[in-house]
Amino acid sequence: MSLAQTLVLNDGHSIPRLGFGVWRLPDDETTATVTAALNAGYRHIDTAQAYGNEVGTGRAVRESTLPRRDIFVTSKLRTADFPPEKARASFNATMDRLGLDDLDLFLLHWPVPAHDLYLDAWKTLIDLRAQGRVRSIGVSNFLPEHLKRLIDETGVVPAVNQLELHPSYAQRDIRDFHAQHGIAIQCYSPLGGEGAAVLAAPLIAQIAQNHSKSPAQVVIRWHLQQGLIPLPKSATPKRIAENADVWDFDLSDQDMQQIATLDRADGKTLPRPEEMNTLF
Ligand SMILES: NC(=O)c1ccc[n+]([C@@H]2O[C@H](COP(=O)([O-])OP(=O)(O)OC[C@H]3O[C@@H](n4cnc5c(N)ncnc54)[C@H](OP(=O)(O)O)[C@@H]3O)[C@@H](O)[C@H]2O)c1
Repeated sequence: MSLAQTLVLNDGHSIPRLGFGVWRLPDDETTATVTAALNAGYRHIDTAQAYGNEVGTGRAVRESTLPRRDIFVTSKLRTADFPPEKARASFNATMDRLGLDDLDLFLLHWPVPAHDLYLDAWKTLIDLRAQGRVRSIGVSNFLPEHLKRLIDETGVVPAVNQLELHPSYAQRDIRDFHAQHGIAIQCYSPLGGEGAAVLAAPLIAQIAQNHSKSPAQVVIRWHLQQGLIPLPKSATPKRIAENADVWDFDLSDQDMQQIATLDRADGKTLPRPEEMNTLF
């Protein structure tokens, strides 16, 4: 297995199994960091309008010697731009900032159900895909009830749902729903978010020692062995390379069962989907 390995989405397009997240990177540092990631072998970069670093991300992709088609780029529509009169112009602004002709994946960033705008925004994404501006469309932070509404109302199943998912918040209760509908799960905060709290668990350190790997490599491997798509972020070149070096070992069934004991109902670090009521 390698960083070029892909999964096939429910729309027939392929997505690299390991991505690189850029949240919290200042725009003027993002080009160098994404370039380091591409040089380390990552072929899948996750940005968002709300991160303020689409310019730096796009520059790294354009300046790379890799063919554009070899790099999978995701961005996300900010919730304040969900109204139909704003969404299309907002997508165009993303493409201007990225400086790319088309996008691999565009997501609705949060459902913000209190404002009831996500269904209209989903219809705009369907149109953008039909016009060839974006290859795949999906959502982020959506609960099964939100996904079900999109599917029932439009018949178009999101290709992915990007969710907080790591050993301390493993989201096992909603994985079946995603599998039944062929919705791939991209995992944000795969190391536990800023500060990487999950890596401090003694159990992870022990398993890492047993495999002569680092705690981060064990946690990323845990995601990959479940068919999940982790998006680790690092601003540190050594860690960027470390997090990509996860293809030469296997966690045993016992390792996986032990890591499952770290799952906690209160292990989520960002708000739950139903708690996010402010447009951003
Ligand atoms: N859709 C959404 O709502 C949403 C929400 C949150 C995140 N995301 C996406 O998911 C990506 C990843 O999530 P995240 O940034 O929240 O957290 P994360 O990737 O779980 O963790 C990032 C933290 O881990 C540290 N780290 C990285 N590699 C490490 C290693 N090998 N050893 C020790 N520490 C390490 C980083 O430090 P340094 O950077 O200092 O190395 C940083 O503090 C984001 O960048 C973004 O693309 C999406």
